[in-house]
Amino acid sequence: MNTPRKTLVVGNWKMHGSRPANAELLAGLLAARPYTADVAVCVPFVYLSETAATLASSDIRWGSQDVSAHAQGAYTGEVSAGMLAELGCRYAIVGHSERRAYHAESDEIVAAKAQAALAKGVTPVVCVGETLAEREAGQTEAVVKRQLSAVIHTLAHCAAEMVVAYEPVWAIGTGRTASPEQAQSVHAVLRAQLQAATGHGAAMRILYGGSVKPDNAASLFAQPDIDGGLIGGAALKAADFVAICRA
Ligand code: 13P
Repeated sequence: MNTPRKTLVVGNWKMHGSRPANAELLAGLLAARPYTADVAVCVPFVYLSETAATLASSDIRWGSQDVSAHAQGAYTGEVSAGMLAELGCRYAIVGHSERRAYHAESDEIVAAKAQAALAKGVTPVVCVGETLAEREAGQTEAVVKRQLSAVIHTLAHCAAEMVVAYEPVWAIGTGRTASPEQAQSVHAVLRAQLQAATGHGAAMRILYGGSVKPDNAASLFAQPDIDGGLIGGAALKAADFVAICRA
């Protein structure tokens, strides 16, 4: 399948960073330009403004790790998509497994967040992925299809504008990466689902996330349906993240 999909590598800093550490990390990413891949960092909300200022004149994009499902109102502690757009965010991660697990985000909430982001022109990076117990019970396909289908249903004709990230929960932060073949087979399922629902599946980017490192990124990204990565731990070290962006 020949498609115009450009590799996208997104760093998810999670709840890591400090002003000096961020400055050093971003300087390292800027110094290593140009990249052939699209590159972005999803940073804690409080650092978005400084990140935007630092990256503004580069082609490295930035985004958030979450977004409110609501446009505005009495939602203490929440951050709206409009606010993210105001800070120039290109992406908002939604439905990360850590938010699904620790903040009880349902498929419906994740879908509403993706919709809220898109409504303000912020591209949602929608995370799906099975737990180890679900994989061992043979439920991987059913779980990721259910998670993705909620978002497809809510986004309707705009669904083709999201980025999807397959992140098997058992591979996140564990050093236990899905093999390229394991990841590819799930990506193929997701792409078929996107194609059936939107007619644009071949043009949509599906990232892999879960213990991506400089030494395994190239074999993962070489798979036909893996269009880049969502990187956690290795996104915190400039040399590692740069190596992955070049993989
Ligand atoms: P690690 O790369 O640290 O496994 O994290 C993956 C992830 O959760 C990215 O969103």
